[in-house]
Amino acid sequence: MRQLTSGDEWTIVQEGFDPEANRVYESLFSLGNGNFGGRGTHEEYYSGDSLPGNYLAGIYYPDPTRVGWWKNGYPEYFAKVLNAADWTPIDVVVDGERLDLASAVIDSYERRLHMRTAELERTFRATLTNGSRVQVSARRFLSMSRPDLGVIRYRIVVEAGSSIELSIGIDGDVTNEDSNYDAGFWDPVETAMWDRRGHVVLRTKKTGFVAGTAIDAVVTLNGEPITSPSTDIVDERSVATQVGIAVRPGDTIEIVKLGANVSSRTVDDVDIVGRCHQVLDDAVATGFDGLLAEHRAAWEHKWDISDVVIGGDLAAQQGLRFSMFQLQCTFTGVDPDLNIGPKGFTGEKYGGVTYWDTEAFCLRFYLAAAEASVSKNLLRYRYRQLGRAIENAAKLGFSGGAALYPMVTINGEECHNEWEITFEEIHRNGAIAFAVYDYLRSTGDRGYLLEGGLEVLVAIARFWAQRASFSELKQQYVILGVTGPNEYENNVDNNWYTNLMAQWTLRYANEAIDLARETDGAETDRLLSSIDFDESTERDQWKQIAEGLHFPEDADRGIFLQQGNYLDKELRTVDDLDPAERPIVHHWSWDRILRSCFIKQADVLQGLWVFEDRFDLDTLRVNFDFYEPRTVHESSLSPSVHAVLAVRLGRLAKAHEMLLRSARLDLDDVNADTRDGCHVTSMAGTWIAAVQGFGGHRVVDERLHVSPVLAPGWSTLAFQVHFRGTWLAIRADAGQVVVEHRDGPEVELLVHGSEVRVGPAVPVAVASQPTVHDRGTREREHLQRQSGI
Ligand code: BGC
Repeated sequence: MRQLTSGDEWTIVQEGFDPEANRVYESLFSLGNGNFGGRGTHEEYYSGDSLPGNYLAGIYYPDPTRVGWWKNGYPEYFAKVLNAADWTPIDVVVDGERLDLASAVIDSYERRLHMRTAELERTFRATLTNGSRVQVSARRFLSMSRPDLGVIRYRIVVEAGSSIELSIGIDGDVTNEDSNYDAGFWDPVETAMWDRRGHVVLRTKKTGFVAGTAIDAVVTLNGEPITSPSTDIVDERSVATQVGIAVRPGDTIEIVKLGANVSSRTVDDVDIVGRCHQVLDDAVATGFDGLLAEHRAAWEHKWDISDVVIGGDLAAQQGLRFSMFQLQCTFTGVDPDLNIGPKGFTGEKYGGVTYWDTEAFCLRFYLAAAEASVSKNLLRYRYRQLGRAIENAAKLGFSGGAALYPMVTINGEECHNEWEITFEEIHRNGAIAFAVYDYLRSTGDRGYLLEGGLEVLVAIARFWAQRASFSELKQQYVILGVTGPNEYENNVDNNWYTNLMAQWTLRYANEAIDLARETDGAETDRLLSSIDFDESTERDQWKQIAEGLHFPEDADRGIFLQQGNYLDKELRTVDDLDPAERPIVHHWSWDRILRSCFIKQADVLQGLWVFEDRFDLDTLRVNFDFYEPRTVHESSLSPSVHAVLAVRLGRLAKAHEMLLRSARLDLDDVNADTRDGCHVTSMAGTWIAAVQGFGGHRVVDERLHVSPVLAPGWSTLAFQVHFRGTWLAIRADAGQVVVEHRDGPEVELLVHGSEVRVGPAVPVAVASQPTVHDRGTREREHLQRQSGI
């Protein structure tokens, strides 16, 4: 495989310009600050292949669904976060010719992402066809301290040439490449440009969001401000200021361009222009250096509380930091209306909307590596959409306050147009319920049950209670017609993972009612009565279904079956596949894929991961040995789960292979699809593989566990953990594991199974162990009691 990038632990470097791979690099060099973000496109005009993208969090359009035969209950639209007006363009004309890297001779080119400080740097030297020559260095950041602000410093050193014309503007003539009907999504509202200041205001069709984009540009020649008059271009959707400058070889022109991106999601429509210019005025007053310093400080804090160090493995370290970098760019957790699209701000695919990925993967990262409020906002997002989830279930024929959360959503409504996925992947409801438990066990914040958690759990339990049906034949409850996490099997009966999730939710919802009562009995009763909860029948019904649910398994092989008929399939392994036919999704018919035994992503193994403490190592080993060789990992979410399980089994080489596959997925463009954007939600999986896999980080039975082991070749594994208000730094090498208390109350934790108490005084050291500590029977028995499995 051709190596796409170089760099070091903190930087990703593209050496040389490759027009063929330009979109891949644009994805890799994306930036974001939680509020907006965009692809790493060039500032100057580029006529080659490119996917411009500047996305404002939460600003979407309901693109009408495209299906052949409409059926009742289909979602009417596929929501997409829109490509918004582009604040970055700086067009450069040298001696009458436009600087365009598609036509110029590129003498040198380098793009560099500084992950520690979230700055994108690009330098190149180009000779134009008219013989003029320039060196350009551009630095861009999206302020982590000012959520509406982006900053560019663009320097041009003239080597040959006598005039430069700049056109510094906003391009509001933007589209989404993945539009279903090639529709335009924005209507123009207002444009203005004066004195190197300007703005473009657009309104989304249908959803009526208003987005204001404003710029301020300061141009200097050899350090002196250029005050000569500019020509202002004002179109219906775009604006620019044009400046002509007479130059001599050796001259340096510098443009500091500030971009404000403000939307009606946070500011009233009428105040948007004012707010844009306020953002710019404040930024001008602070100046480039001040803005950069505060942005760096904000990122320093993020890394300080979240960084993971892998010594002796640059590929893993770089990929892991890249993953954490993108997660931090995508979601900062300050706004419960925002969530994490599978591509973050790096591309259009998946529409920037919310999938089960958030609860099943991303939440784990934010729980351990950010303040509790960040995770709480992810939970509040779903709570605020509970009404819609109840409506969604009602559309499908459920009643009595049952909720089916959408597989894909931005506003709470289902908005995906693939039937097998939308209707049948009901397991997502389980992940959303489990997230409440995950949050509670990490934060200890039981009060959340009365702030929304319990309502969500009850509504989801009600759904499972109706969705399960009683089979006279089996004399058990069954859940028919589903798709499990493995999307390469559709409309199957009794997907083991889905049934496990359903069973767990039915039991935990029951338990949560008691927990909530312990916290505040009167409030719990008030809440349950507000949702017409029938204590005398519903709780018993949940128990009965949970007890009687069918779980397909093959006792001879000792495996759980992904679905009742899985063993009827021709049982081959991935090694039997012709490498030329992989990924199978690109080479096989859908019919062939559905009939095959090949598994897109962890499914039974996903269940063994989520509920790992219920199953002993032998059970895990047998199932892993059966399913792993049949898994093609064609979902980016898959390898990290296998990595965690492989660590538990002591198969560190396998776990390392899976960690790398997750960590390097985009940097090495493993699935040949990074051009569409980076796999941001699965980047949480990379963190999970490192910290929960190799680090053995868990919260079990109210207690924090760590149990770090080193992959072959690693000298160190160090990570930060936030647990119930305490911040810890864990560092393991071949000899010992050192736990350092960084902030918060003293805490007791288990390191390789030994209890240690850590407080502010001195770090605590425990001898290292070669394999991960199996958390043993105490916790397993507790969970088995809790779950009945
Ligand atoms: C996976 C889903 C996932 C989606 C978005 C699909 O390829 O199979 O599990 O939710 O991508 O990441």
